[in-house]
Amino acid sequence: MLITINDVLTPEELVTTRRLLEHSSWASGLVTAGVQAAQVKNNQQLPEDSGQLSSLRRLVLGALNRNALFFTAALPLKILPPLFNCYAGHTNHYGQHVDGAMHRVAEGGGYVRVDVAATLFLSDPDKYDGGELVIEDTFGSHSVKLKAGSMVVYPSSSVHEVAPVTRGQRIACFMFMQSMVRDPGQRRLLFDMDMALLQLRQGVGETAPVVSLTGMYHNLLRRWAEN
Ligand code: NI
Repeated sequence: MLITINDVLTPEELVTTRRLLEHSSWASGLVTAGVQAAQVKNNQQLPEDSGQLSSLRRLVLGALNRNALFFTAALPLKILPPLFNCYAGHTNHYGQHVDGAMHRVAEGGGYVRVDVAATLFLSDPDKYDGGELVIEDTFGSHSVKLKAGSMVVYPSSSVHEVAPVTRGQRIACFMFMQSMVRDPGQRRLLFDMDMALLQLRQGVGETAPVVSLTGMYHNLLRRWAEN
């Protein structure tokens, strides 16, 4: 299931993000790719020693922290530090690949199981051609290109690619996370139920059946969540 979350960043945060990125220098994106992904990955990424990276990460994680829709879509348990990438010129695409299931956390922090991925678009879509994030799922292939500051959340189990950027520059932030609910089907059910409850609450208020259904949502989450 793909979930789009609009306006994750405020216009001010987008300006700050872009200013920080303007003062950053890009390096090869191959450093974080696994063996299969490295065959098809051809982009640039902010290196770990970039002076701007910690401010950028703090800003994005702060925005995610206050976003209720992100929480219910991903049910995040552990979020790996966000990464930033750039597609332009000769380093302009990332062919079909799957993200590795386990990511090592720096300095003896063990591993995080990657259940969910998210891409936060940072370039205005009219400033570049191509660069769609194409995600395959059981319902076919979905092409995603969002306005700057908006994000797509999708299961890491899916094969995906970034189509070649043929004009301009596509800058984005991407991140991987371990979800409290490992199974994508269970996550989907909880998300759909939560969205339906939200509508019900707005439509009819906190009636006894709504309270009862809300309890069922939490009981399912309690049954399925791990930490
Ligand atoms: Ni990927």
